[in-house]
Amino acid sequence: MANKIRVVVLYGGRSGEHEVSLKSAASVFRHLDRERFEVIPVSIDKTGRWQWNDLATIDPAQAVLPILPDAPEMRLARGPDGRGVLKPISESAARPIEIDVVFPVMHGPLCEDGTVQGLLELAEVPYVGSGVLASAVSMDKDVAKRLAQFAGVPIAPYRVLTRKAYAQDRIASLAKAIEGLTLPVFVKPCNMGSSVGIHKVKIWDALGAALDDAFRYDVKVLVEQGIDAREIEVAVLEGETLFASVASELNPNAHHEFYSYEAKYLDPDGARVDLPAKLDASQMERVRALAVQVFAALECSDLARVDFFLDRNTGDFCFNEINTLPGFTSISMYPKMMEASGVPYKELLTRLVDTALDRHRQRQSLGRGYAG
Ligand SMILES: Nc1ncnc2c1ncn2[C@@H]1O[C@H](COP(=O)(O)OP(=O)(O)O)[C@@H](O)[C@H]1O
Ligand SMILES: [Mg+2]
Repeated sequence: MANKIRVVVLYGGRSGEHEVSLKSAASVFRHLDRERFEVIPVSIDKTGRWQWNDLATIDPAQAVLPILPDAPEMRLARGPDGRGVLKPISESAARPIEIDVVFPVMHGPLCEDGTVQGLLELAEVPYVGSGVLASAVSMDKDVAKRLAQFAGVPIAPYRVLTRKAYAQDRIASLAKAIEGLTLPVFVKPCNMGSSVGIHKVKIWDALGAALDDAFRYDVKVLVEQGIDAREIEVAVLEGETLFASVASELNPNAHHEFYSYEAKYLDPDGARVDLPAKLDASQMERVRALAVQVFAALECSDLARVDFFLDRNTGDFCFNEINTLPGFTSISMYPKMMEASGVPYKELLTRLVDTALDRHRQRQSLGRGYAG
């Protein structure tokens, strides 16, 4: 026991994907190798409270990792030996827990956007996944696309509107939004996920209402050229080199206009998955290479799911978005694509933890000031 690596599975979070996280985390919790790891579940509730959950008494086969009602509240600190430690807010409630590594299994804003990663950096705790920079730029659909495009990866044309400019001059903003674009367009909040606040606009008269709604979720909104596209995803895993999985294809059911929130989470038949995607060999090779290119351009670490559109008319791929902490249930696309590419779920988790520890060791050996 003493030699086991203590892994904190951090789950829940303050985003709209809180519930997805509880499922992802249940799966990670169940499959982490107990021969090597001691697993400590720490939740973040929707108000931002960190709690240590003693799940010893709970059925390990559960589909959702719960947040226990009386779980003691904890805060992250740096211990006297420089090691990260979770301390109970109330001294009597629990004992401090020293941490070897954190595995954040949370999705969306305030989870996968560099904020939690920044906190972990300050506490000098090793953690799985991209660092502050890559997490933040990957969450911002505008900046992520700009960096991808700069690296030579095609993207769909889009315009960016800010809430401030939209409030100041709605007519000018609307004119700017549609410049050079043709119907349909997609309106999307810059920093959301799960298709929340996304609208497919098929007549220009509907643009204003779509923007009003998208601005409820973000101060920056994209108006993007709609593409008649197949949706292709690739999982990337960092090892000695960057490894791209076989691609998969998501086929939203025909009665959904696009891969909407309803299609993703409410309709059990919302989408059909083809794994591997039905691509010819050169298309498969191309999209895997593009995924690696995006991962590198955005300076990601460890893992990411990179999503593309394959234009049915031109046959070209364009980068849509990247998820640095993708869904992680055993039926989620990231682990399924890795499994189909020869990396089983349990081994994937072990590799991610080992890579995180290794990166931390390397970074700790860096000098911090002038060495003379
Ligand atoms: N430019 C586009 N052309 C066609 N479909 C789009 C476009 N942008 C988004 N979509 C549809 O909307 C879905 C959600 O958009 P996406 O940018 O992936 O946001 P999210 O982060 O919420 O998943 C996509 O999976 C796709 O079905
Ligand atoms: Mg998406």
